[in-house]
Amino acid sequence: MKKVAVYPGSFDPITYGHLDIIRRGLTIFDEIIVAVARNSQKNALFSTDERVALIHDVLKAEERVTVDTFSGLLIDYASVRGAHVIIRGLRAISDFEYEFQIAQMNSTIGREIETLFMMTSLQYGYLSSSIVKEVCSLNGDIDMFVPPEIKAALKQKYGLV
Ligand code: COA
Repeated sequence: MKKVAVYPGSFDPITYGHLDIIRRGLTIFDEIIVAVARNSQKNALFSTDERVALIHDVLKAEERVTVDTFSGLLIDYASVRGAHVIIRGLRAISDFEYEFQIAQMNSTIGREIETLFMMTSLQYGYLSSSIVKEVCSLNGDIDMFVPPEIKAALKQKYGLV
């Protein structure tokens, strides 16, 4: 049976931290569905379609990755897509409580789906999409945090080109 995992998030925008989790996830799973949340409660800089297009751009060489959007319960989406595992990255102890709560809720309402936590690599432990946006908006160097395609899109959003 094909091992399929869903990697959900807001990805506003995708960073090297997310890409690190995806690349490591591909050593465990046959296919990863990167699922962009449509109804995130966050105020997004990029529209959902823009976020999907950017992920496509940076992952076009990865044949085992598909990009999609979802709304409603993540567990329902994973089930419809035939995925038995949800991947989440953990950056610091502060991520744990929230992630633990969601994973417990998901396992209560969707027992057949497992959550797999992957430790974020050391160099991305402090990274977040918000911090990248802030640094970029203040004209700081973001080369270490995002691929060139994402940097270009951010610069354009902030009128820095
Ligand atoms: N490296 C670096 N940064 C990372 C990272 C990694 N490996 N993994 C996550 N991050 C950052 C993200 O950039 C993001 O930064 P930001 O807050 O500045 O935007 C932050 O960590 C958390 O983002 P993300 O992993 O995308 O989670 P989220 O909280 O934005 O989204 C959903 C969570 C959408 C997956 C979740 O709310 C969900 O499943 N919603 C659907 C409804 C549902 O089923 N709810 C659960 C009910 S029990």
